[in-house]
Amino acid sequence: MPHAFDQSLGRTEVGDAGAAIANPWMFFRRWVANPLQMGSVVPSSQALCRRIVGLTRWDLDQCVLELGAGTGVVSRALLAGGVPAERLFVVEIVPDMARHLRRVLPGVNVIEGDARELPSLLPAHWHGRVGSVICGIPLVLLPLAEQARFIGAIAAVAPNVGFLHYSYCATSPLPARKHSLIGRREAWTPMNFPPASVWRYAPA
Ligand SMILES: C[S@@+](CC[C@H](N)C(=O)[O-])C[C@H]1O[C@@H](n2cnc3c(N)ncnc32)[C@H](O)[C@@H]1O
Repeated sequence: MPHAFDQSLGRTEVGDAGAAIANPWMFFRRWVANPLQMGSVVPSSQALCRRIVGLTRWDLDQCVLELGAGTGVVSRALLAGGVPAERLFVVEIVPDMARHLRRVLPGVNVIEGDARELPSLLPAHWHGRVGSVICGIPLVLLPLAEQARFIGAIAAVAPNVGFLHYSYCATSPLPARKHSLIGRREAWTPMNFPPASVWRYAPA
């Protein structure tokens, strides 16, 4: 029976996470260094994290995979929503941030690396046992061929699962049909800077 999170779960926990986990200063410094890679000036809000958690599904023998974990606000919300730390894999390309994630998220599988290399980053025995993939990497800013690399990497470790992708775009951040995907906006919140949507993309 797949798990679907009660959105009320994690409210306190996420709130308790506080600035030490969100580390907005580290986030902002990375944005100054590489705005295209970060895609946002500040970490996602608690409201957005709750919506992501509410859309995350996983089964008892599965893991949850988060791409572009940043300073860990979504990861923290997933833990508060019930994903066991040992079942949560988070991928982050910036070494400082990966170090921060290891410090603030004990027990979580923090993978420092490029999500385009997912098949070699995620331990092989988890391939095909991924309940949800949550992508926070700003794919909208990339050319089609680069987007396809991320989508292909996700499909290689999580065939037929699709992925959740949060974005500040008013319309679909990905040209779904060109990637042979079906995209649907499943949540929107004005309580984020900037206001954000959560899209679900699935194989067409
Ligand atoms: C919009 S931020 C989201 C951060 C965090 N999940 C949040 O919601 O606050 C995008 C994150 O993706 C990371 N990132 C960008 N390209 C990446 C890649 N190729 N592989 C892994 N992480 C990447 C950035 O370093 C950044 O931390």
